[in-house]
Amino acid sequence: MITRMPVPALPPPSIREALKRTALEAAQAAGAILLEHARRGFRIEHKDTVNLVTDADRRAERAIVDRISKDHPAHQILAEEGGMQAGQDSPFKWVIDPLDGTTNFAHGFPAYCVSIGLEYEGRSFLGVVLDPTRDELFVAEAGAGAFLNGTPLRVSRTSLLNGALLVTGFAYDIRESDQNNLNYFARFALRAQGIRRTGTAALDLCYVAAGRFDGFWELKLHPWDTAAGALMVLEAGGQVTDFRGGPFSIYGQETLASNGLVHTEMVKVLEGT
Ligand code: IPD
Ligand code: CA
Ligand code: CA
Repeated sequence: MITRMPVPALPPPSIREALKRTALEAAQAAGAILLEHARRGFRIEHKDTVNLVTDADRRAERAIVDRISKDHPAHQILAEEGGMQAGQDSPFKWVIDPLDGTTNFAHGFPAYCVSIGLEYEGRSFLGVVLDPTRDELFVAEAGAGAFLNGTPLRVSRTSLLNGALLVTGFAYDIRESDQNNLNYFARFALRAQGIRRTGTAALDLCYVAAGRFDGFWELKLHPWDTAAGALMVLEAGGQVTDFRGGPFSIYGQETLASNGLVHTEMVKVLEGT
């Protein structure tokens, strides 16, 4: 007999609407800050040799956190630049990347986004990703679908890796770690139709949800990179797992997301078979 783990409940619909409003308005406020800095300039600091942070990251995060704390003061907040804050006992946890794609932003390459995910009792149920440069707003709600500027999203129908456009990325420890994804990159380069490295994992996942990419893999992402985007893929009919096809967690080390049709082939490549 198979016993299934019960799926954690969702908060009531009336509360969900208010939460969505907070998330959307916080993302728009952060997006406006990023665009303003892109136009007027920003200061760059080095977290280490290749990992940057700018005052745009910090200001955008402040705007998001302030808005959430004002509307929902008891909620937990995990944000990239500020870490874990407030509300340790709340069942709600916001997971925030105020600027995903900082290296792109710092070079003036227009591929970056604001990413806001929301968990209730450990289950992701809301994801909002805003690309302010293209005015593209991706929204996913557990059980209700994924949308781009209000239009429902569906993953692609590409069924063979040979015809798939994949996307990946590399963690900032690429120079120090052997687990730097170059082995997987080399394998996929010989098996897929093409591979891109856009530099913004949250948008990569949204593009899988939108059918623009057929699959995505990356090692060592952080919860704020995937909290919103993974839900986007699932709600658009795709699949998200670890590299062996097992359960995915935003707190884990491996992210494999696809349209579902090329998933098994991608697992085989990652396993080296
Ligand atoms: C990075 C981007 C990039 C990915 C890195 C992330 P950041 O986030 O998502 O695409 O390859 O692993 O750390 O630093 O720009 O927020
Ligand atoms: Ca990020
Ligand atoms: Ca970031």
